[in-house]
Amino acid sequence: MNIIKTTSEQQFNETGAGIIASLLQSNPRAILGLATGSTPVGVYEKLIELYREGSVSFKQASTYNLDEYIGLPANHPESYRWFMNEKLFNHVDILPENTHVPSGIEADPQKAAEDYARLLDEAGQIDLQLLGLGHNGHVGFNEPSDVLQGPPHIVKLDERTREANARFFNSIEEVPTHAITMGIGSILKAKQILLMAKGEDKADIIATALKGPITTKCPASFLQTHSNVVVVVDQAAGRWI
Ligand code: F6R
Repeated sequence: MNIIKTTSEQQFNETGAGIIASLLQSNPRAILGLATGSTPVGVYEKLIELYREGSVSFKQASTYNLDEYIGLPANHPESYRWFMNEKLFNHVDILPENTHVPSGIEADPQKAAEDYARLLDEAGQIDLQLLGLGHNGHVGFNEPSDVLQGPPHIVKLDERTREANARFFNSIEEVPTHAITMGIGSILKAKQILLMAKGEDKADIIATALKGPITTKCPASFLQTHSNVVVVVDQAAGRWI
């Protein structure tokens, strides 16, 4: 596991974006697994900058997002599809048909999860999976539990996760209760994993995830079993690792 401790917000974002940009430069057809949340926002901004400078192109790349809230349509400002369009896709040369986010509005969410699983299987191996880290150790929306599922599936969101994400909604009541997420198996299949975490509030959980026991109670701990993980943290999140 390669741990990179950055010393500024700018370096944090540049390091994450640099890893993704180098992959696209060496393999323009790269398959990227992407995340939402606050952690990658600056990374996406930097990637947009690199695209505008002509240093990187997404024209042949394809993307698969980790997760989507059930019940939010693509035009809902808190849906993850909307987030990705706003924060990255609308500003680079990626072809919209090459971007994939699970659908949160199918009448049968179980089928939507299965459809996403099929899509991922057809796509082949993800070259790089970008991950943020939840305060409870979740990756994607794989919440701590007695058992973890491998393929994409429906998940009931932890109350802590809903509370953490309520900052983006008018009230906690508006935060969906369920989501579709790639499973831990889908995540671990990626060739390379880029885990990013910043801020003091992530210091304990990232240490637990990377140095504690491998347990379903901390889904991110399964990253210890992967042979190609790069961890990018700031000083605050990285204080115990
Ligand atoms: C987002 C996702 C989540 C977030 C995690 C951290 O697609 O799957 O696992 O990465 O909740 O969120 P932030 O970055 O907002 O701290």
